[in-house]
Amino acid sequence: MTTETIPQFVQSALERKLPPKTDYGIAFVGCGGIVNYGHIPSYKANGFNLIGGYDINHEAAEKTVQTHGLKKLYKSLDEVLSDPAVEIVDVAVVPEEQWNVVSKVIAAGKPLLCQKPFSIAYAKAARMTTLAQQAGIKMAVHQQFRWSSIIQATRALMKEGWLGNILDVQVQVSIHTPWDMWPWIAAQPRLEVLFHSIHYLDSLRFLFGEPALVTSRHSKHPAQKAKGETKTITTWDYPNGMQILVAICHFDWSPALYSNFRILGDDGVIEGTIGTNYDYPDGRSDTLAFTSRNHPKQNFSATLPGKWIPDAFYGPMASLMEALQTNGSPITSAEDNLGTLRVVDAAYRSMSEARSVSPSEITA
Ligand SMILES: NC(=O)c1ccc[n+]([C@@H]2O[C@H](COP(=O)([O-])OP(=O)(O)OC[C@H]3O[C@@H](n4cnc5c(N)ncnc54)[C@H](O)[C@@H]3O)[C@@H](O)[C@H]2O)c1
Repeated sequence: MTTETIPQFVQSALERKLPPKTDYGIAFVGCGGIVNYGHIPSYKANGFNLIGGYDINHEAAEKTVQTHGLKKLYKSLDEVLSDPAVEIVDVAVVPEEQWNVVSKVIAAGKPLLCQKPFSIAYAKAARMTTLAQQAGIKMAVHQQFRWSSIIQATRALMKEGWLGNILDVQVQVSIHTPWDMWPWIAAQPRLEVLFHSIHYLDSLRFLFGEPALVTSRHSKHPAQKAKGETKTITTWDYPNGMQILVAICHFDWSPALYSNFRILGDDGVIEGTIGTNYDYPDGRSDTLAFTSRNHPKQNFSATLPGKWIPDAFYGPMASLMEALQTNGSPITSAEDNLGTLRVVDAAYRSMSEARSVSPSEITA
């Protein structure tokens, strides 16, 4: 027996979680694609207070400010940082520019949210984190996939004990990604794990904790223009025998594309899809089918509300706001993100040295 009714505790987990105060003035530094189709639609849907934008490409900032009816068009980063109306700086520049922007925002004493990847070099990410700690500035990273419906629903089912002990986890995605649409990503020597799989790796850490060993193999399409790897297989091993497989291919030409998410516990199994991958960035909603081993009344199969892009994008910002109010730590804090960058770097080291790598080997 399977119903289409999502259990109440899962529905509650899918509801937006906003802190009491959400009217912090937000300014964007970098007004490119993701700010326009990810950040702004989601922030607006949650009533956030969007002040304005700055971009080294003035036209990009101008277009963003006009399109979304923002209040201020800034001509320089200094102008953003000296505006008392700006209480949180939302940084969405290319990763190579992150250090230049982040160091100035920290020096100006403003809290900030940085797009992923936080840095392409672990050592630089560690330096930025230390800099923020020393200055007492709260800094978070935009790993918003944690707030997607599939991850939130999985977390709720795990917490409620419906899955039992987790035995096996698989994220298997085979899609067509036109990397040439993002020339700066196509030019990156490290591509798939650092820019795409990083979302899964971050959320898998969130759900299951740190792996003991990372093993990863990378490949390319023989005719691709992009410099870095576009097909990867990464496995994680845990001390209790649990394994995770993340197998991603970005050059699938076939009509049989897939974006599957499967969690096998000893009491229940989740078979889901990550909808956004089907037609990025428009995509579909996530789906989830839960099957219980011994309690068939728990079985359900549903299309989950919302879409990863843009609906999950409010999450890291709301969590940063909450941290400001409670003097706590954002869920995707810079400190936490170092763990994600460690498993990313472990995947690349595994590939280059043809061996399994412990994330603890990655040090600044
Ligand atoms: N799901 C996600 O979380 C997601 C999706 C796409 C991109 N991203 C990340 O977001 C960031 C931006 O990606 P995008 O797709 O919007 O790229 P984009 O090229 O469309 O936009 C980047 C913008 O940053 C501006 N910029 C560069 N250096 C700057 C600086 N020093 N100061 C101000 N502006 C500067 C550029 O002029 C450009 O307009 C990247 O780090 C990328 O990895 C995340």
